[in-house]
Amino acid sequence: MIEIQHLNMVYPNGVKALKDINLTIERNEFVFVVGASGAGKSTLIRLIGREFLPTSGNIRVFNKDITRLRRREVPYYRRKIGVVFQDFRLLDNRTVFENVAFAMQVVGASARQIRRQVPEALEMVKLTGKARRKAHELSGGEQQRVCLARAIVNKPSLIIADEPTGNLDPETSREIVELLDAINLRGATVIMATHDKEIVDSMKKRVLTLSAGKIIRDEQRGVYNQDAH
Ligand SMILES: Nc1ncnc2c1ncn2[C@@H]1O[C@H](COP(=O)(O)OP(=O)(O)OP(=O)(O)O)[C@@H](O)[C@H]1O
Ligand SMILES: [Mg+2]
Repeated sequence: MIEIQHLNMVYPNGVKALKDINLTIERNEFVFVVGASGAGKSTLIRLIGREFLPTSGNIRVFNKDITRLRRREVPYYRRKIGVVFQDFRLLDNRTVFENVAFAMQVVGASARQIRRQVPEALEMVKLTGKARRKAHELSGGEQQRVCLARAIVNKPSLIIADEPTGNLDPETSREIVELLDAINLRGATVIMATHDKEIVDSMKKRVLTLSAGKIIRDEQRGVYNQDAH
């Protein structure tokens, strides 16, 4: 699903955020990306999301090198992946339903598809009863569940999440990761950057550890290791 070769990212200020990253992620894997602050986790996730281009190297996703997409192809690529942010990024004055529906409207879904798929996504994240609430009336955990529903409503085969539990308490964090696990079990590949040792240790998923822009460890059924700090 994802094949990264000789990936380097040097920001305009000269910071070398990623150094010769080589990485393959298979369809339907669940991968945690861990490492100290500044290790390059967000840079890697954002490059996979094609938010910007790397300095050099290839990133093949769905069998296409996304570093070579034409400008007009980029929005189409982005619509094929689900993105979950640490800070939710919801439309505060819109309802839960509208927030999720919006992700379908931008891809040109019909009203009929929206009426069918939004409730399905809300059910998946256990928010059926709150569809008419305004986003700003929800708790942090509920807002993140809306964000998850928005990420899955178009049925993407890849979900990227950068510290989705970074602003949540431990119990709520666990709920969010269990939902991501359920989404993964239903067939989506999930890549999640996190600092949450408890969660990484309990889930027994693949763990990629970054340090100063390099992959220093890549373990199946791994744990959060202290080298990360
Ligand atoms: N837009 C940017 N411009 C310049 N340097 C940046 C930019 N974004 C990140 N960096 C630098 O690149 C390096 C990697 O940053 P990145 O955000 O990928 O780390 P991270 O592992 O996500 O850290 P954290 O755990 O704090 O989120 C850091 O040295 C950071 O200061
Ligand atoms: Mg980060």
